[in-house]
Amino acid sequence: MRVALVGARGHGARHVENLVRLGHDGLATFVGVVDVADVDVPVPSYPDLPSLAAELHPEVVVVSSPPATHRDLVLEAFELGCDVLVEKPAVLSVHDFEEISSVARERGLVCQVGFQTQGTGSYRRLCSLIGSGALGDITGIGAAGRWVRTDAYYERSEWAGRQGDDGTLVNPFAHALQNALLLADVEERADIAVELELYRCRDTITADDTACVRITADDAPPVVVATTLCATTSLPPVVLVHGTLGQAVWWYDDDRLTVNDHRMATPPSVDLLENLVRHRQNGEPLVAPLAAARAFTTVAEQCGKADVPLLPARRVGDRVVLDGIDEVVVRAAEKIATFAELGCGFGR
Ligand SMILES: NC(=O)c1ccc[n+]([C@@H]2O[C@H](COP(=O)([O-])OP(=O)(O)OC[C@H]3O[C@@H](n4cnc5c(N)ncnc54)[C@H](O)[C@@H]3O)[C@@H](O)[C@H]2O)c1
Repeated sequence: MRVALVGARGHGARHVENLVRLGHDGLATFVGVVDVADVDVPVPSYPDLPSLAAELHPEVVVVSSPPATHRDLVLEAFELGCDVLVEKPAVLSVHDFEEISSVARERGLVCQVGFQTQGTGSYRRLCSLIGSGALGDITGIGAAGRWVRTDAYYERSEWAGRQGDDGTLVNPFAHALQNALLLADVEERADIAVELELYRCRDTITADDTACVRITADDAPPVVVATTLCATTSLPPVVLVHGTLGQAVWWYDDDRLTVNDHRMATPPSVDLLENLVRHRQNGEPLVAPLAAARAFTTVAEQCGKADVPLLPARRVGDRVVLDGIDEVVVRAAEKIATFAELGCGFGR
């Protein structure tokens, strides 16, 4: 399977490594890269997809460029007859989501979204525990994302910290949001209600660096995701599944799952690109299809338009700290409660 990559630096470097690995395993041939910058890669590089395609004829395109470029690049790849693995956020508006979904359908092509934690063994084990009723009735899904990020984080690329492209729920903790939506089984639904509380503690950015979202839908457990990049200390991001018979705690980045404090054994993880290649070869179901990013895209679009008030926070060297937020994001996930309901001074 001939695979091209768009965007080779930043997160793209991981795709380069993965493509080289898949080449050694004989699963894919890494044919070339498209990037607007000069890049150091072990394959030919091109300034745009049509010029790469004219010479190298890819069958699959991996898109790992900045979010605002995804729509056009995905459509260009479809135009060339390629299936796509596009990084999250796949697109930034519901209109673009509908558009690429319908072009894919018309052309008989597929699009996988780079939510790699959907391929983890811990995710599959958790789904089967929920499905078998082992946790009882599910009463809520909470997620907490808490990282310390310095000034350098916002200096790494032009779109970092820009509302509409970035924000804690759209980018750094996108997996927390997506995983919570999946576990509540609302990921494909259009009829969700979204309550947002977005804040920023830096006047140099327009996107949120501290956020809480509650998502509700008929016949589904409520979801609350609370996030911050202004913590005193970082925590591995975590998703809590509250059930009448117990609680599951899922550290998705570490592929680690406990139920009622017992560590669960988990099957091996599935790589998203390998899965896409096998989907083409023998119809293996996609683990992170575009259709499952509908509710996420609804939230992302609203994050791009919401008010993001500035909060007074403390500068500590090269970082900004919001006092008290460390406990608050964890409590929001535990209680399925918003910042306002938890009585935070800054909650709306
Ligand atoms: N799945 C994950 O865990 C994960 C982690 C980090 C980032 N991401 C996602 O990966 C994507 C890229 O993020 P990043 O931080 O690497 O971005 P970045 O700004 O570092 O850009 C990545 C690469 O794309 C290139 N590029 C920029 N515009 C381009 C264009 N129009 N055409 C071709 N190449 C272009 C840049 O030169 C760079 O090499 C984003 O969607 C981000 O959210 C995913």
